[in-house]
Amino acid sequence: MSGVKDRLLTTIADQLGNPHGVLGRGVAFVLNRGNRRAIAAAVEAAEPGDGTTVADIGFGGGVGLTLLLDRIAPGGVVHGVEPSPDMRSRARSVFAHELASGRLVLDDGSLTALPFEDAALDAAITVNTIYFLDDLPAACAELARVLKPGGAVVVGIGDPEAMAKMPFTPYGFTLRPVDEVVAALTAAGLTVTQRSLPNPPIPHHLLIARKS
Ligand SMILES: C[S@@+](CC[C@H](N)C(=O)[O-])C[C@H]1O[C@@H](n2cnc3c(N)ncnc32)[C@H](O)[C@@H]1O
Repeated sequence: MSGVKDRLLTTIADQLGNPHGVLGRGVAFVLNRGNRRAIAAAVEAAEPGDGTTVADIGFGGGVGLTLLLDRIAPGGVVHGVEPSPDMRSRARSVFAHELASGRLVLDDGSLTALPFEDAALDAAITVNTIYFLDDLPAACAELARVLKPGGAVVVGIGDPEAMAKMPFTPYGFTLRPVDEVVAALTAAGLTVTQRSLPNPPIPHHLLIARKS
């Protein structure tokens, strides 16, 4: 019985870190529903302005792309970066119109290897992604590299204590204290302010990291 349970929880954690295949379609739907409020708050905190160049890194089901597209005026561009080929493929069909118009660009990539020139972005969000990183300082340095001076990245994470109570997180998530994430962003040269979101289903923390 515990072998079955282990396999199930491993599958859930694996899908959340790399949504793929038939199950990945359901995961995309669940992510968009469950994380919408946290992602909307991250978009709000990133303050994407008219005509700016912004990104959602690790967009999963893509609700963040929709919310960013709603916020940028004509002339702005949203970049979606996602290592999962199936999530990129899904986004290509959901956002065919926005891709054709050039308002949206989709790229393969990782937080530790972003497909951008230095100082390319006015703002970025990355929500519920850093659990799947081995090297957080490298990701923070990469985020700092691609931001324009004055730009901000909003890193959204589930509250580590609440996340630790979820049965699948021991099967592949790295849960870091909020202070450790703040310290890594600060060490990368960013100035961090925090916002807590007590909303269900999981309380989140937004770390708003600005480049001076
Ligand atoms: C739990 S999902 C979160 C998706 C979405 N941001 C949300 O909050 O609903 C994690 C996403 O991060 C992506 N991911 C995993 N490793 C990543 C990395 N190193 N860099 C960027 N994204 C990554 C996964 O492919 C997946 O789509």
